[in-house]
Amino acid sequence: MQTVLRACLGCCLWLLASVQALESIFGSFNLELEFPTPQERERTLREGLYDPSSVIPVDVDVYYKHGDATPSIFVTIPRFAKGVPYSLAYVTNEMRPNGTLLQAYPSYEWHKTHGADCNGLTSVYRTQIDECGRMWILDSGEIDFIQLCPPQLYAIDLENGKIVHQYKMPKRLYKEGVSRFVTPTVDLHPENCDVTFVYMADSIGDGIVVYDVAAQQSWRIENKFTYPHPDFGTFTIAGESFQLWDGTVSTTLTPHGLGGRRMLYFHSLSSEWQMGIPLDVVNNGSNWKLNDIGAALEQFQLLGKRGSQCVGTAMSETGFLLCGLVKPSSILAWNIREPYSHQNLVMLVEDEERLQFTSGLKIVRNHEGKEEMWALSNRLQKAFGAGLNYKEVNFRILKCGVQELLSGRPCI
Ligand SMILES: *[C@@H]1O[C@H](CO)[C@@H](O)[C@H](O)[C@H]1NC(C)=O
Ligand SMILES: *[C@@H]1O[C@H](CO)[C@@H](O)[C@H](O)[C@H]1NC(C)=O
Repeated sequence: MQTVLRACLGCCLWLLASVQALESIFGSFNLELEFPTPQERERTLREGLYDPSSVIPVDVDVYYKHGDATPSIFVTIPRFAKGVPYSLAYVTNEMRPNGTLLQAYPSYEWHKTHGADCNGLTSVYRTQIDECGRMWILDSGEIDFIQLCPPQLYAIDLENGKIVHQYKMPKRLYKEGVSRFVTPTVDLHPENCDVTFVYMADSIGDGIVVYDVAAQQSWRIENKFTYPHPDFGTFTIAGESFQLWDGTVSTTLTPHGLGGRRMLYFHSLSSEWQMGIPLDVVNNGSNWKLNDIGAALEQFQLLGKRGSQCVGTAMSETGFLLCGLVKPSSILAWNIREPYSHQNLVMLVEDEERLQFTSGLKIVRNHEGKEEMWALSNRLQKAFGAGLNYKEVNFRILKCGVQELLSGRPCI
């Protein structure tokens, strides 16, 4: 860790990090949730289906409707525990005492059975809105490690709210009571809106499920590189520590149009290793026999070690991989054309106050086609430790133009 810090201290980029400030879009002491009726709110409280101290956002996603300068902002609220009334929401315009009011998405009905109806949503960690206006929702299907439904993936067309794809994971590809599917990564065809593959990270089952959408086939990748590392099971943020023992948390892809062999980049949450593997190897199902932990092992590349954990990741169209670094609390960037070494890892923004556990990170195109980075931070060290202090802002959504961020200009 010290090496990362020193490498950046040694150059002017650190100066850049200290002056750069992300634009604050949302800040909340605790999440304020809308209910269909006050009686329904009372019922969920009474039955233990709503506990305000269990409601912790993890991911943010953003959608600019064609030509509209004001985006829709979505937030996921995984059901780590029972007291989460709904697991996917959008930010409304209504202010409440603890923050802006959230409303269930697609509707309250989708979440209301808490896993009894598998055609709704059981628990969502992260989503991805693709460039054709569809939201891909990865539902882990479990609440507090009770697998109530198979993990599944939905795609919803955000223009009309219609379900355009649904995939239920076959039993052989997940570990009941263990798996926790946390992040989907969607690969679109470069010329049209066909989705070719979806990669799904299983952070506690320590693997990646690859879904070939056209062929309707899927397979699982799991080996020593998809696991956590004992040196990085303790997370320390702003002086507080907690334990997380998570494998592969997210994947990203070489953007189309950069030329060369495309890669799948991935990392375990409890690890400092940045991994990569050629995408054509990942996408060829005959390489991946179930439970073969030696499958294509020679194709995996340890690209480098960063000295701390990274949570959310996102790839820019120009080939910069951004991640929410844990220590120090910052946004880290790597130009994928360069070796993954300390000299080439740049802390774009360091913010000990506002970037405490950046679990959600997205790069989205705004109404003018310009790339923006959106981040969600949630002080998970407190939520999973001594508890949140509801007198301070715990949950934040921050943003910055990607070009501004990379060049050190003020965020717009
Ligand atoms: C809002 O904050 C107040 C004061 O901390 C607290 O009593 C109340 O339960 C909070 N509401 C929610 C929804 O968290
Ligand atoms: C897929 O991998 C197998 C070996 O596992 C190889 O024989 C085959 O040629 C590959 N297919 C493609 C399209 O690359």
